[in-house]
Amino acid sequence: MFSLFANWKSHKNLITTRAWVNTFLDALDISFPQAVIESRIELVLFPPLPLIYPLKQLVSDSEITVGAQDISALPEGKHTGQVASESLAGIATHVILGHVETRQSGDTQEIVQAKFERALSTNLAPLVCVTSPEQVIAESPYIVYEPAASVGTGKVAGIDDIANFKSSCHLQSTQKFIYGGSVSPENVTDLMKDGVIDGVLVGTDSLDPLVFAQLVNNILSHA
Ligand code: PGA
Repeated sequence: MFSLFANWKSHKNLITTRAWVNTFLDALDISFPQAVIESRIELVLFPPLPLIYPLKQLVSDSEITVGAQDISALPEGKHTGQVASESLAGIATHVILGHVETRQSGDTQEIVQAKFERALSTNLAPLVCVTSPEQVIAESPYIVYEPAASVGTGKVAGIDDIANFKSSCHLQSTQKFIYGGSVSPENVTDLMKDGVIDGVLVGTDSLDPLVFAQLVNNILSHA
């Protein structure tokens, strides 16, 4: 199965999200639902927090699920402003942890590990983002390699570099290896070659619904 994750970061509101969904679903290839049902592809959208629930409702008939871009390292409790993983029960299916941007704003490996345990305890599937093999969490179902030089720069990493990084991670056979960093409709099928990666995390090119639909459609024709 090829995993497709869309990270909207701090973009969009309720109005632009509705418009995105309408345009995206119209442009999506009709083979998409069957590809999900046959487990050839999974698609998870990661909007900003206030949009998780409305987006889940907007895509409820479409085999798309919705995830969170981060969670608190703390359980439910007296922590004003924090979003405990318990609060996402029944709403989000996945959570992004240790994204290079959240590590830059203070998440240490210890904090990422604590968030990872919170995610598992509430049945959220964690995507652990890493820029070096030391950041890999051996039990994580998804490891997302996001070289800092490729995130948001338009400079996609070469498949040989991605493959070398993967081998230095010594992943378990059950762990999925995802690549993120300037993935586009133009480069995604090259990235899929030789089965090095099991999926992609897309930032910039998930924001325009027509560009993102093209990206998904290109994956569908190869998945
Ligand atoms: P990008 O972002 O596709 O804009 O490089 C990827 C990410 O940060 O998840």
